[in-house]
Amino acid sequence: MRMVDIIQAKRDGQELTKEQIDFVIDGYTQGTIPDYQMSAWLMAIYFQNMTPLEISVLTDAMLHSGDVLNLAKIPGIKVDKHSTGGVGDKISIPLAPLVAAAGAKNPMISGRGLGHTGGTLDKLEAIPGFNVDLTEEQFIQQVTTIGTAITSATGNLAPADKKIYALRDVTGTVEAIPLISSSIMSKKLASGTDGLVLDVKTGNGAFMKTEARATELAEALVRIGHQAGIKIVALLTDMSQPLGYAIGNALEIAESIDVLKNKGPADVRELTLTLGAHMLIQAEIAEDLPTARRILENRLADGSALAKFKEMITAQGGDASIVDHPTKMPQANHTIPVLAPKAGVVDQMATDRLGVASMILGGGRQKKGDVVDHAVGLVLHKKIGDKVAHGELLATIYAEEPARPDVVDMVLAAIHIGDNATAPKLIHHIIQ
Ligand code: URA
Repeated sequence: MRMVDIIQAKRDGQELTKEQIDFVIDGYTQGTIPDYQMSAWLMAIYFQNMTPLEISVLTDAMLHSGDVLNLAKIPGIKVDKHSTGGVGDKISIPLAPLVAAAGAKNPMISGRGLGHTGGTLDKLEAIPGFNVDLTEEQFIQQVTTIGTAITSATGNLAPADKKIYALRDVTGTVEAIPLISSSIMSKKLASGTDGLVLDVKTGNGAFMKTEARATELAEALVRIGHQAGIKIVALLTDMSQPLGYAIGNALEIAESIDVLKNKGPADVRELTLTLGAHMLIQAEIAEDLPTARRILENRLADGSALAKFKEMITAQGGDASIVDHPTKMPQANHTIPVLAPKAGVVDQMATDRLGVASMILGGGRQKKGDVVDHAVGLVLHKKIGDKVAHGELLATIYAEEPARPDVVDMVLAAIHIGDNATAPKLIHHIIQ
């Protein structure tokens, strides 16, 4: 079999066979297929799509490219959540300790930044000492004792996804339903979870910009989950503006801590509670959503979710004192104000451009292997539906340089001021 023939077959819109897909995934994982051929194949998939059968075979090949965790040693039903990626999406950080504080077992395998979106692992690494590369034994031990652990795809778990994810990030091949769904589901199935709550983003900060495309992605993800026999539900949620106010690694950890302190932005809190409630249903801790939500609200109010976060940070080698002193995380050298050029109401945001602005400051990778600066990013002061006066603060840029006119221009271009607008609906619909 020759890789060039398989690239050409997909380029010309043919359905690939299991043997062809296995050949590609195996060859790329082993290093016999080079990045340039893999990039061409990924781009062919981007343009030609894949059938449900191809997506299922691709997921299976990626899932079996390495180890599959056996979480049977952890007592109880294991539940997890995964987002398809957005800007300011820090939900996993308050959610993991919150559901663990409510008694759920949450083995969470997370990713790094991808395209214009941030990654949970990059954010957690803003916490001094925090180890996101747990061994399988450490992962199982921590979920058993504490109830949650957030780690990268441990060691040899779905190694194909690790390599393909990094390549997609820098070759313009992220926004493809077969690639997103196989990436997410190979990791999640390899992690051995019994239940999965998916947060499928829709809007201009998501990979799927329209509701129709996001629904298509949600259906592909749910179909793979059903085939694998796990409990699965997908929530379509808004990404027409960033979640919360903070974009950037340490800044988003600080905002997550606010949520765990029973404060924080309303949208981050609401989504955390909603996704968490679905996880508690899957874990059979609550029978209905209102009961599940009440349990979670109590865990925020009584401080046990915050205490669980400290426990989790300590268990993963991090400095838990950042919870009380967030300035112990990396701090940018300069803050740069972005002022409203006119009065009105914020009516639109180019959300993906705000993600790119944070990336350009150093908060994400522009090419494979770039080192992330955890200190930089943006804090918005206005969101869609908010009134703004001429000259009022729209956003603050956290940068290493005293002036970044390029980023100021990007942020100004990304926040549109009109005459009136209402805040977008956060949760669109549920697919199961
Ligand atoms: N999250 C993933 O894990 N993979 C993707 O491709 C997109 C979001």
